[in-house]
Amino acid sequence: MKLLKKIGGLNRAFATVAVALAALSLQPLSAHAAPQPVVGGTRAAQGEFPFMVRLSMGCGGALYAKNIVLTAAHCVSGSGSNTSITATAGVVDLRSGSAIKVKSTKVLQAPGYNGKGRDWALIKLAQPIDLPTLKTATTTAYNSGDFTVAGWGAAREGGGQQRHLLKATVPFVDDATCEQAYGSDLVPGEEICAGFPQGGVDTCQGDSGGPMFRKDDTGAYVQVGIVSWGQGCARPGYPGVYTEVSTFAADIARAASGL
Ligand code: ARG
Repeated sequence: MKLLKKIGGLNRAFATVAVALAALSLQPLSAHAAPQPVVGGTRAAQGEFPFMVRLSMGCGGALYAKNIVLTAAHCVSGSGSNTSITATAGVVDLRSGSAIKVKSTKVLQAPGYNGKGRDWALIKLAQPIDLPTLKTATTTAYNSGDFTVAGWGAAREGGGQQRHLLKATVPFVDDATCEQAYGSDLVPGEEICAGFPQGGVDTCQGDSGGPMFRKDDTGAYVQVGIVSWGQGCARPGYPGVYTEVSTFAADIARAASGL
């Protein structure tokens, strides 16, 4: 207790010095206060990604159908009846009074999921949500280029969850490059990587299950990935790893039709 108090006092002293130094530097204070979404992102506008869902266990998801959310297998504990999950949709601000909140009725975790690859799951909702859905990539045609990621997860490694939806753009990383970081932990046929060589922008804890997406040839958003894992967040040389949606599109469609 004594030690903690002392550290608290020291922290206050350092904070005072830090504020003084910041005031002396020529950078505006607002530059330090700028939101760092996801990691290295910015705030999404209300309605910009209407298919984005926050799940009560602390994950993201996307509306696959009006009554089905696509998320990550590691966000759920198995398959079967489940009325314990709340999906929040329709808002960038999770505390907004206009948030749409719907309970789950069922969960389907990817058959055979064992913690390596295959990181997808479906959550059936008690009521349909009348918002646009996000279509899934059914071929590898869009598994390249720049992707958008969004979520309410940590804005830095070890950081807290966010009240406001953050978004960022990350470029595709090919399997060979991604394997340089992760070796045989990567399942190249089932996972797709994205991030900058120098790091700085990434999804992070709490973004899991959320979509990675881009525009298709018609200008519509198509989901190419599901936030899955990475070594830390936004570290140089360690891209984010996403479930490769095109690999599982047929399995997901089949599972959804039987849910
Ligand atoms: N597994 C994390 C979650 O449950 C997501 C981690 C994503 N990490 C990354 N570096 N892209 O929220």
